[in-house]
Amino acid sequence: MSRKTDSTGSGKLWGGRFTGATDPTVERFSASIHFDKALARYDIRGSIAHARMLGESGIIPADDADTLVHGLEAIAAEIEAGDFPFDPALEDIHMNIESRLSDAVGPVAGRLHTGRSRNDQVATDLALYLRDACEAAQRSILDLRAILLERATEHIDTVLPGYTHLQRAQPVRLAHHWLAFFELLGRDAQRFRDAGQRLKECPLGAGAIAGSTLPLQREHTARALGFDAPTRNSMDSVSARDGALEFMAAAAICMVGLSRLAEELVIWSSSEFGFVELADAYSTGSSLMPQKKNPDVPEIVRGKTGRVVGNLVSLLTTLKGLPLTYNRDMQEDKEPLFDSAATLRDCLEVMAGTIATLEVNVERMATAAQDPMLLATDLAEALVREGVPFREAHETVGRIVAHCVGGGHNLGALSRETLQDFHADFSAGSAELLNIERSFAQRDLVGGTARTRVEAALTSARSEIAGVAADLGDGIET
Ligand code: ARG
Repeated sequence: MSRKTDSTGSGKLWGGRFTGATDPTVERFSASIHFDKALARYDIRGSIAHARMLGESGIIPADDADTLVHGLEAIAAEIEAGDFPFDPALEDIHMNIESRLSDAVGPVAGRLHTGRSRNDQVATDLALYLRDACEAAQRSILDLRAILLERATEHIDTVLPGYTHLQRAQPVRLAHHWLAFFELLGRDAQRFRDAGQRLKECPLGAGAIAGSTLPLQREHTARALGFDAPTRNSMDSVSARDGALEFMAAAAICMVGLSRLAEELVIWSSSEFGFVELADAYSTGSSLMPQKKNPDVPEIVRGKTGRVVGNLVSLLTTLKGLPLTYNRDMQEDKEPLFDSAATLRDCLEVMAGTIATLEVNVERMATAAQDPMLLATDLAEALVREGVPFREAHETVGRIVAHCVGGGHNLGALSRETLQDFHADFSAGSAELLNIERSFAQRDLVGGTARTRVEAALTSARSEIAGVAADLGDGIET
């Protein structure tokens, strides 16, 4: 391994003012190459744009700029092929690449860092990384939403109890239930889109903190890297990490939603509920109990939510006491960020697979939804339709429920006369008033569970994801 040396004994690219070598423990302690190598392609893109700009603005000779660009392209290919010799002694990805460039093209490599600091370099790498990560998250969310929509379409007439407090509340269509997660995930996707929109300014040219005395053309590098413009304040450019925070916050929120979906699958796949059976491909067995089929996949999703939330808290905590501008603490941004991105991607993928392959036990769901108690609210609303104030109707039906619970009567089979003993305004017996089909049909309002409304929701969901897919297809910069 060739390590570039300066004229002093430290053996570092920054070694000019040093006379002593770095302690090996410090070298190990401060190195970030084992994780920031994930930024390699972005670092090279940034360096190529920078080198071209330096050449075109006459800051370095045009020939040298070409040499740098070709050298960097060769290194990109080497990294892509897995042949790059990452060296912890060279600290981070920036130094590793510059050092390798020096091996490849000789002293000309020393011109690459002209007018640049690792501070604006790493901020640029992160912005480029985050733009891709925001887009990748939107794609993964889209895939899961497409699966939910597919399964919802299949189950428009599957009825199950909807729950509040995990107590049976009112009957809903399974399509409606899954479309609830479709909505939630749609907002998650918007959060990633929105975070991506705020990464339109390029930090390159901010230097270490206060720009450069050299005539850098920041608009040039910004555009070359697909940004709209250079950042507007050099100090903010090198100290801001809110882009990473936003990504991790969006990831944490998305994971919390996934965790709730996961929790339902755990509950629904239990023998007590028996609403769904997870596919063999998405379940695991017990090493001891031969009969077991465990919902490990949703459980792990639920479990991984903790670490993604933790990643956000970790970077928030790292940043909270830092004075402007760059502080080395900020190197701690990367591991939680990369981990959140990878964990979210994996969780979205396995949840899509789990939902796509699970089997719905339509009968179990329907049986659970049959309980006439689930329509008690409808009985109160029947009185409201007769002109009775809701509070009075609610109280009346409460007494009827108590009568049924206490006396073992079926709420769905009370005669008109019995009902009228509780309130004179009942116009029919409960069998007529508490009809599940009618109950659905009456919930004919925006966001409601009437078949026509759920059909309309499915249709609009279809056109929404077609639009999102088209946007993602068009708007990608590589
Ligand atoms: N590895 C460093 C980080 O990720 C790069 C920036 C180093 N800058 C510095 N002044 N030491 O934060």
